[in-house]
Amino acid sequence: MSDIVRIAIDGPAGAGKSTIAKLLAEELGIDYIDTGAMYRALALKLSRTGTDYKDPEALAALLASTDVDYAGGRVYLDGEDVSGLIRTPEISELASASSAVLEVREKLAQIQQAMGLRKSVIMDGRDITTKILPFAEHKFYLTASVEERARRRALELEAKGLPCDFESVKADIEARDYRDTYRENSPLTITEDSKVVDTTGLDIPEVLALMKKEIYGEDTHMNAIITVLGRDRVGILAAVCKLLAERNVNVLDVSQTILQSNFTMVMMVDVKNCSVSFKELSDALEELGRKMELSARIQREEIFDAMHSI
Ligand code: DC
Repeated sequence: MSDIVRIAIDGPAGAGKSTIAKLLAEELGIDYIDTGAMYRALALKLSRTGTDYKDPEALAALLASTDVDYAGGRVYLDGEDVSGLIRTPEISELASASSAVLEVREKLAQIQQAMGLRKSVIMDGRDITTKILPFAEHKFYLTASVEERARRRALELEAKGLPCDFESVKADIEARDYRDTYRENSPLTITEDSKVVDTTGLDIPEVLALMKKEIYGEDTHMNAIITVLGRDRVGILAAVCKLLAERNVNVLDVSQTILQSNFTMVMMVDVKNCSVSFKELSDALEELGRKMELSARIQREEIFDAMHSI
């Protein structure tokens, strides 16, 4: 993988873009930018100020005096963290409607393009593969059936204690799909070089595995080193092997040493096609370490190599 890697993800509402993008970003150790959240933050400003986005003068004045930023998984409107205020049906609707306006898009596109210029990022939205990061190293189009997307959105709203009715959530999604796809400015489209991932019926680890395969390539392994240190040799072996097998982690090589009563095991594993994210695997090993009073940690091979070349 080159030094800078940009991953562009487009797709309709509720396809799972942000969940997947966040996990991938964590796994790759790069920034995640939720561009939809930025359109939502701007919609919140329209709503708060009672500005009509169809009034060109009022809109121009609002855009000139508005600052939208996204950092550390939070979206900021004029410096205020508004992440918790933008997921209501009213803001969803207003974000979809106002994002069709050219001036709105130009304002946010400029900020988003600057974010993806000089560093590795994962960005998701509707125009990332086409307009914001057309040069991205990896492009994905994530989609799912309308029913599945409506079901996911309804669950999300329910979890937040917001009132929701499946049929109206579905109608809402269909209306947004239509508007996002048929608008004149930067409509949602599938570029020829995007990998289409239909997430209907797939769970998060399955989607993640599919995308990781695409990013890392078919033949290259994504290796990591697991080091386990403790006293109970048989117990450690059994527990670590079980943990890895349950997560489809392939063991490539194992070396063991016993020094006095300490048992050390170093495993080279292939984490490319495993069914969990690197972070989940690392957490599971840490948890095992706590339970069995041993030290278990995992690091990527690149980091390991770098340490040994010092
Ligand atoms: O991804 P989301 O549902 O949070 O996005 C909210 C709205 O913002 C969506 O209806 C369309 C718009 N949007 C856009 O036009 N371009 C983007 N890059 C991201 C979102």
